[in-house]
Amino acid sequence: MENMRRLIAGNWKMNNLAARAEQLVQAIDNHSKSIINNKCDLLICPSANLLQMISKQLVNSPIMIGAQDCHFEEKGAFTGEISAKMLVDVGASYVLLGHSERRHGLFETDNVVRAKVKAAHKESLITIICVGETDIQKENGETLNILESQINGSLPEAKDKIKSSNTIFAYEPVWAIGTGKTPTLTEITEVHGQLRNFLIKEIGPEASRLRLLYGGSMNAKNALSILNIDNVDGGLIGGASLIEDEFCKIIDIASE
Ligand code: 13P
Repeated sequence: MENMRRLIAGNWKMNNLAARAEQLVQAIDNHSKSIINNKCDLLICPSANLLQMISKQLVNSPIMIGAQDCHFEEKGAFTGEISAKMLVDVGASYVLLGHSERRHGLFETDNVVRAKVKAAHKESLITIICVGETDIQKENGETLNILESQINGSLPEAKDKIKSSNTIFAYEPVWAIGTGKTPTLTEITEVHGQLRNFLIKEIGPEASRLRLLYGGSMNAKNALSILNIDNVDGGLIGGASLIEDEFCKIIDIASE
């Protein structure tokens, strides 16, 4: 397996007002500029209202900006929604799709995620498709089945359109998100290896180049051991991305 450039992505979820966002982004940008031979890519996914401000702030920075969701239609009567085109218009180049807080908290189905992936690709947004099992599904030994069915259900039918340049997967066990719990290193190794094999079977050789992120209670203490696992090509980080010291330590670890 070729060595991929790692991606460290912060998912801010519904946190940070503008003043705090500006301060946090500045700290991350200053820190990332101090790293020589940086071996990782950086992404910040703030709430949609902050995208334009942050994209202006990062205009001369390699840090990329992503949204946390998009609608599957380009425009129209969809009160409260934001289209992929609108996200691009305010500076986003990535979008998270199918996060478990949307799948479980907001009843988003695989079909909806699939339509969103198509809409995002149409606008040349890089999609980070999130998959993960609940604690009960894990206890029942259903992890792999659940992940495979979420992937199959969320990917556009035209699998040849899935490229390493437009699609990333994030394995986020639902029970590990925001709980301080993580799977064992052996479990992450197994799941990421199985995901890689499954994606190669479904998509073909291109899938060996797709980045697979791990997400769920990643922090400065566990990042080194998790990021060193085969087939873990970066992290999708929630809570720890809201604290500059913590997030910058993870960036340092991923940059080595
Ligand atoms: P935590 O890092 O807070 O567990 O959140 C992970 C996550 O949901 C990232 O998308």
